[in-house]
Amino acid sequence: MRKAIFQKFIQVVVAVLVLSSAIFYIAASSALLKNSRYDMMFTLRTLDGILDYSNDLEEEVDQLEEAVSSNHSRFTIIRTDGSVAADTERVDEKSLDNHLTREEVKEAIEEGEGYSRRYSDTQKKNMLYVAIPSESTDYILRMAIPYTGMSEYLVLLLPAVWLSFLVAIVYCALTADKFSQSITRPLKEISQEMLKVNGDYTDLSFETYQYPEINIIAETTTKMSKNVKDYLNQIEIERHIRQEFFSNASHELKTPITSVQGYAELLENGIVQDENQKMDFIRRIKKEAMNMTNIINDILMISKLETKEAEVVKSDVRMSIILDEILDSIKPLADSHQVTIHAECKPVCIHANGQQMTELLGNLLTNAVKYNKPGGQVWVTITGQDKNLIIRVKDNGMGIPQESIGRIFQRFYRVDKGRSKKQGGTGLGLSIVKHIVNFYHGTITVRSRLDAGTEFLINIPMEEKM
Ligand SMILES: Nc1ncnc2c1ncn2[C@@H]1O[C@H](COP(=O)(O)OP(=O)(O)OP(=O)(O)O)[C@@H](O)[C@H]1O
Ligand SMILES: [Mg+2]
Repeated sequence: MRKAIFQKFIQVVVAVLVLSSAIFYIAASSALLKNSRYDMMFTLRTLDGILDYSNDLEEEVDQLEEAVSSNHSRFTIIRTDGSVAADTERVDEKSLDNHLTREEVKEAIEEGEGYSRRYSDTQKKNMLYVAIPSESTDYILRMAIPYTGMSEYLVLLLPAVWLSFLVAIVYCALTADKFSQSITRPLKEISQEMLKVNGDYTDLSFETYQYPEINIIAETTTKMSKNVKDYLNQIEIERHIRQEFFSNASHELKTPITSVQGYAELLENGIVQDENQKMDFIRRIKKEAMNMTNIINDILMISKLETKEAEVVKSDVRMSIILDEILDSIKPLADSHQVTIHAECKPVCIHANGQQMTELLGNLLTNAVKYNKPGGQVWVTITGQDKNLIIRVKDNGMGIPQESIGRIFQRFYRVDKGRSKKQGGTGLGLSIVKHIVNFYHGTITVRSRLDAGTEFLINIPMEEKM
């Protein structure tokens, strides 16, 4: 990159120098030509004033010969018919063309003054011609000088031009080197810092550089490293959650499996002879198998809701129907816990998955009954408010300790393992509820006081397009 910057710098400087020299040459040539023409015109007008046209013109012109020969110039007096009346150059008159065909003479007659540049066959040189009509007579006065333009000054100018080229290129080389360093150094620093990041993502920081564009790269790199760090932390957290989940899940499944194994072995060994006891063991095995199925179903449901890969079939779900079904199925549990349920449901209909709505309401109501006291009460109200489905489940049961409220939605979390176990809980119910609420972009809040009761409030937008 440094080399490329350097080369570009030199290329630009050389191009600029060549271009400016060419422009200077053209401008100087034109100025020189204009100046020469002006001087010649002035000389012609002076001569027109001095010349005595009543005398012999040849004699008059002869007097000028000495003056004009010093600078190799030529002075000609031309008649209006184009013939030469007098000339400082002694040329055979017949060998001269009619001068009316000469450009400068034609211009002088038509426009009052004329000039031209051409190669002179008589002088064998490039000449500059200027002509004017005499003010007092009909003659045309013409002056010619050898003219090479700027080329004769070029030799004088060349050393100065070369010197300025040299100075410019040396200066440019030094500047280019400094400039390229000011770009490549920060880039090198940034890449070196990035190379230091080796698995262990520490926060990167860079000084403020001279160019905003490089500062943007530095800022982006810092941001990127921060994002990667956050991302890795997130992966670590998720890995931890997964690990915890697997250990919890296997622990939860291990207990029923051990029981099933125990009962099966007892039956196999023939130790139990009593038919009633045998039937009891078989019932227990079936119950444990049912428990395991429930746990696995819950886990599958959560994982489907998490990955969102489940093809959720939605329809218009009438909440009163769902509630009635749940109340029917929960009645035996409520009766056994001596809990009364008060239900109130407005005619609301939500476009959702019926099974998910049943899971959501069922889990909340089962908890409200399970974690209650004999003689306790549960209030459930379902309403529609501002295009939101509002579900409120309240009980006056045992309540949740303050320090546990933040964790009850975690998978397998149970406030009191002993009391939950007694109720047959695995700590997946509220996690499912939370996942379903999130799936419908809703919110869930909980208020609870130990020994006073708990209230869950759910708000789900009913017109959310998913
Ligand atoms: N209404 C409630 N009153 C008091 N405690 C509650 C209430 N609802 C939930 N909890 C507490 O929160 C914990 C988590 O509830 P969650 O429904 O997730 O699990 P679970 O009821 O133990 O098991 P599962 O629902 O999977 O059968 C419970 O263990 C319970 O201690
Ligand atoms: Mg539960």
